Amino acid sequence: MKKERILVTGGTGYIGSHTVVELQNAGYSVVIIDNLSNSNRNVLDGIERITNIRPDFVEADCCDITALTALFKQYPDIKGIINFAASKAVGESIEKPLLYYRNNLNSLMNLLDLMPQYGVKGIVFSSSCTVYGEPDENPVTEAAPIKTATSPYGNTKQICEEIIHDVVRSGAPIKSVILRYFNPVGAHPSAEIGELPNGVPQNLIPYLTQTAIGIRKELSVFGDDYNTPDGSCIRDFINVVDLAKAHVIAVERMLQDKSLEQVETFNLGTGIGLSVKELIAAFERATGVNVPHKIVGRRPGDIEKVWANPKYANEVLGWEATASIDDTMRSAWAWQCRLRERGIM
Ligand code: UD1
Repeated sequence: MKKERILVTGGTGYIGSHTVVELQNAGYSVVIIDNLSNSNRNVLDGIERITNIRPDFVEADCCDITALTALFKQYPDIKGIINFAASKAVGESIEKPLLYYRNNLNSLMNLLDLMPQYGVKGIVFSSSCTVYGEPDENPVTEAAPIKTATSPYGNTKQICEEIIHDVVRSGAPIKSVILRYFNPVGAHPSAEIGELPNGVPQNLIPYLTQTAIGIRKELSVFGDDYNTPDGSCIRDFINVVDLAKAHVIAVERMLQDKSLEQVETFNLGTGIGLSVKELIAAFERATGVNVPHKIVGRRPGDIEKVWANPKYANEVLGWEATASIDDTMRSAWAWQCRLRERGIM
């Protein structure tokens, strides 16, 4: 049975593309809007190869309200939005704060503005565990205090969450599900889509897989003098397909009026904290491929340890991250190898 149409902003990006696959597999019609600032049109081919459906695609920027309005007019059947479109590099946000505030806030505000006019019931918002800063205790629940952001990027996530609450409080007839992601990693098991950052990767897994295949000489481990068992930072690495599936459930809740509150917030993690060194070891064990690495100094702004208590999402959404870290590492490696086969990287 054909379900409602969902607008996926940033749908050719890493998490967006995996979510489009899961939405289409669940029977939703999708239209993607993306300005291709950090992704490529070829991602649509990957999505089509997996699902046999090519999502509709509009190349435009969500900050462009004229283009957005035209899109809602062209697709009057849009009932829900998943908003991935945002800039997400922590370091870049410190150098170019206005770019981050403008891009991340304006795109959300435009969507919120237009939703009631075009009969869109709900919006899923991509937030981050960065809102918890360095948490007082782990695992982190949704009730943990929001800490002062350490970067403009992190601040945009906090402000966007507040904007959603304020707009709903003002009486706007919309619902929202805020999803706070921990560290999404891995790729679709088909290796048709995955993470493809522009330039030198800032995040751990793309740097690791590029090192393993020989594009980078050596992975730098940023610090081994943290107050953790092996001295390296601890994160909650969640498989991107598990993460994507939670979005389908979130959309269903909003459209079927199952939400407990007009704005709901969930942590999306595995509940397992793994250190950077443990992750490298997991990759080597799962793939049999060696990752040359060395310990270097700490990266400014890094959190020492953060992992999720996903109990609320498990119980209320009926969702759980199930992929093993070994399978996830193998999927990341298969994707890197596919990029090589295709002569992309
Ligand atoms: C950061 C943001 C997060 C954001 C994500 C997406 C914070 C606190 N976290 O996550 O909100 O959603 O980026 O871009 O703002 N590492 C290395 N060597 C490397 C790369 C990383 O050792 O070459 C280490 C880091 O020090 C860190 C861990 O690996 O301890 C994970 O780093 P990364 O993948 O960049 O993600 P976060 O910093 O956790």
